[in-house]
Order: sequence, then C-alpha cells, then structure tokens
Amino acid sequence: MEIMIADYSGFCFGVKRAMEIVENLIRKKEKAFTLGPLIHNPQVVERLKCSGIIAADLSDIKEGNVIIRTHGVEPDLTKQLESRPVNIIDCTCPHVKRVHNLAQDISNRGYLTVIIGDHNHPEVEGIKGYCNGDVKVIENAEEAKNFYTTKKVGIIVQTTQTKENIEEIMSVLRSKLDIEIFNNTRCKATQQRQEAAADLARNVDIMLVIGGKNSSNTKKLAQVCQNVGASVYHIETAEELKKSWFKYSDKVGITAGASTPDWIIKEVISKMDEFNKEMNNQETVKKEEEG
Ligand code: F3S
Repeated sequence: MEIMIADYSGFCFGVKRAMEIVENLIRKKEKAFTLGPLIHNPQVVERLKCSGIIAADLSDIKEGNVIIRTHGVEPDLTKQLESRPVNIIDCTCPHVKRVHNLAQDISNRGYLTVIIGDHNHPEVEGIKGYCNGDVKVIENAEEAKNFYTTKKVGIIVQTTQTKENIEEIMSVLRSKLDIEIFNNTRCKATQQRQEAAADLARNVDIMLVIGGKNSSNTKKLAQVCQNVGASVYHIETAEELKKSWFKYSDKVGITAGASTPDWIIKEVISKMDEFNKEMNNQETVKKEEEG
C-alpha cells in the first residue's frame, strides 16, 4: 500500500501565528483564557488546558489575559471585554480582519451585505457584527434560490468556503440580483489545502482527512475529497484508524485541516506504516504457505 501526503496540510498561517503567541505565554508561565476553544481541535485544546490556557465563555472572564482566536469576534464583544480589567491578546487572523474591514465598508456604503458562509460559525458571527446595515448569511445554493431582495447587494465570503459552493451560490444570485460588489475572501491557505487534497484524492482509493470533527475547514476538506470520488475517512486521531479499511487499497492519501497539529499527523502516518508492515508480512506468509 502506497501512502501519500497532500502538498498542503495541517496548520495554516493564521493558526501557526496564534499558536506561537500562545506558546510564548506558556513559556513565560502566564495563564490565559481563550474566548471559546482556541482552535477547533479537541486534542490541542486539552493540551493547552494543562498549560493554563483555558477555553471560557465571556461571562466567566473577569480579569487576566484573554485571547481572541483566529476566527475573530464581533466589535460589541471586544467592547465588552475592554470594559473589564483584562489584557486582550488579539489572535484574529489578518485574513479574517480583512473580511471584517470589507464587511464594514460594504455596509457603510448602504449595501445589503451577503456573507457566503456557515450559519452560527464563529467567524461568520464575527463578520456579521461588522455590518451596520442589513446582512444575510447564505450557506448553500438552496438558500440562495429562496433569497430575493431589490436592494443593491455586496458579497463577501467566509475564509474556509469551498470553490464549488461559492460558484454554485454566485450563479444563483447573479441570475436574479443586482450584485455590485463581490469580494471572494476565501483565504489562500484554504484554497491551497482544498486543491492539493482534491488532486491527491483523484489518484488514491482512500483519503484520510485528519482534524477536529467540529472543524469547519476539516469537514470541507473531506467534502472536497468526496466530491472527486474518493472514499473518505474523517478522523481526529490515529486511535480511530482500522486496518480493515485498507484491505483492498493500493493507494491511500492523507490530508489534514488547518487546525490539525503536526504531532497528530505524524501519529497517523506512523500507525499507517505499522499497518503496512503487518499487511506485507501477512502477504509474505500467505505466499510462502501457497508456494
Ligand atoms: Fe487565516 Fe485562512 Fe487559516 S483565514 S486562520 S489562514 S484558514
């Protein structure tokens, strides 16, 4: 069985940056709250907790260091934090900040802001908070079909959306709305990861997608691989791997979400190598018995 790793996988620029800031705090033995889990990866969040970096709700945060995660937050929430004796450490990804600025600009100019994104995702909630006027979140083509307005429309995109979903939604909206502004704010890291995963998925029997089950970007990677016809297993850790999945596979591809750390990817690869050795040994014994 051949095991191949996608060209771009694992931590993206924004997550690396946030993790470096947090590791620096840990080195200085400082404690901090994160407003919600720092990244959508339960294993990393658990490790951070042991080092004094604790995920909390706004109501629980009274003082100390507070980390705003890569997804960013709505300005109201920042204001609430600023009214408390806390030290705000802003880890909002610069790509998300750019979306905030564009959303604010679109809505200040009197447009109805359409966000192509997932309902209730923290990044989308944050972006919504920067819109002073009307705002509408559209998650898929079906929702686009059911939406109509006579207002002039400006569009922005959640950074982790897939190219296919954006195109499907835009094709529906363009056919009936007056769209004056379209900013495709899907970030480069998302684009690179999704394209590399799809390229690999076309050439393997099975794709392993590693990352938090609660991670939007990891779920989208799995979706992209499925869309090109690969059999996909979305796993969080090496413990979930089953040898039986690979019984009839010659080629297995591996990719990982933007919030998946290297150590989890390495554990998966090493468990796959073990499976490979065991399967090769069984094959050799079988041949010897037959011969
Ligand atoms: Fe930033 Fe894109 Fe990662 S927006 S946090 S670089 S997925």
